[in-house]
Amino acid sequence: MSKPIVGFSKLSKTEKIDWISKSYFKTPEHAKLVLEQYQNSDKKLQQLHDEFIENTVSNYYLPLGVAPNFLINNKLYTIPMAIEESSVVAAASKAAKFWQSRGGFKAEVISTTKIGQVHFMYDGDFSQLQHYFNTIKPQLFNDTNAITQNMRKRGGGVTNIELVNKTNKLDNYYQLHVSFETLDAMGANFINTCLEQFAKTFKNNAANFNTLNGNIKIVMSILSNYVPNCLVKAQVSCPIEQLNDDKNVSPQVFADTFLQAVKIAEIEPYRAVTHNKGIMNGIDAVVLATGNDFRAIEAGIHAYACKNGSYSSLTHASVENGIFKFWIEIPLALGTVGGLTNLHPLVKLCLELLDHPSAKELMQIVAVSGLAQNFAALRSLTTTGIQEGHMKMHLMNILNQHDATPTEKEQITAHFKTNTVSHSAVIEALHNLRGL
Ligand code: MEV
Repeated sequence: MSKPIVGFSKLSKTEKIDWISKSYFKTPEHAKLVLEQYQNSDKKLQQLHDEFIENTVSNYYLPLGVAPNFLINNKLYTIPMAIEESSVVAAASKAAKFWQSRGGFKAEVISTTKIGQVHFMYDGDFSQLQHYFNTIKPQLFNDTNAITQNMRKRGGGVTNIELVNKTNKLDNYYQLHVSFETLDAMGANFINTCLEQFAKTFKNNAANFNTLNGNIKIVMSILSNYVPNCLVKAQVSCPIEQLNDDKNVSPQVFADTFLQAVKIAEIEPYRAVTHNKGIMNGIDAVVLATGNDFRAIEAGIHAYACKNGSYSSLTHASVENGIFKFWIEIPLALGTVGGLTNLHPLVKLCLELLDHPSAKELMQIVAVSGLAQNFAALRSLTTTGIQEGHMKMHLMNILNQHDATPTEKEQITAHFKTNTVSHSAVIEALHNLRGL
């Protein structure tokens, strides 16, 4: 067991590595070597990564893949995806290719409002508080003028401030519930800075407002990652007879089974969570590649999946007049300026690959990636099952775990073109090849 350490953050990076290597590893030299291997030899680039967070000791790599042939609103995209799960990029590419020849994906941004709240306690008369709020409201806007100036010039800013009475849920609890338009920025810093100013103005002026009895106690000021009015919809559709990719399943049977699978996810939370997890495979990978906050996106989307009181599917499907339709509607607070987007060289590259999208365009791309992923998953699940494709992709991981040489990889991959992949079958094939 290691001893507690005082002043760890003040140590140099080499000293930090030395300390953890000696304190936690049987072979400190090996631990150091691994951490060292993942450092970038370009000193400036490494320093950039070191300074993103506190106590950086190395870099943590994920593969960056690309899925080409995404036709979205008649524009072709190659979508960057940062993800470790073997089958995700292949599934996205397959779905993209399928829909490219059937009119592509259509996507639209429904709304772009973001939310922040000042949470406070007040133990006096509500009508006096309401009166105070109405009086102070113009000053709340005025006092943030300097902060919002640039955003307002570009057409964004604070769009509304409401006083919300929550005392039926929690004694003395009220909010300033604030709506923002942050344009191409995710806007977290902008929103939080405004909120902290609202809190100051609201608290400080209350003291001079002689009709207001009862104290205002600010609890906290923070943006909300629940953004049900920052919404995007993406969809695909085609005549049923065009669902004809699989020779073993008729288009009608394919459509019927697909719809049943979606309906199951709509009403059964156990299935809905896995169904949505597959959607998040597509969403998180693009969110991460474009330098956005995938935790915020995850939290907001899962809350939206419960908006009717029970956790449910984010995608829906219908067949009407012989037309198969499949769509997703999700909240996405994304940015294409600010934060990592101007800093991380790979993020910048991914945004250039996407032709420098606006935040709205990125919302559409990300929603499409989620829909495509869900289409690919449901197509496999309702026909061959997912393990066939999954294990084929996983084959390389197993081979790498056992240090297979390029020739061994080639021979074993050829063998499993006609045999079922399982962990034990791969080991056996490798042993046979090695004459063990
Ligand atoms: C695996 O990462 C995702 C799936 O389980 C999604 C689904 O079941 O729909 C294949």
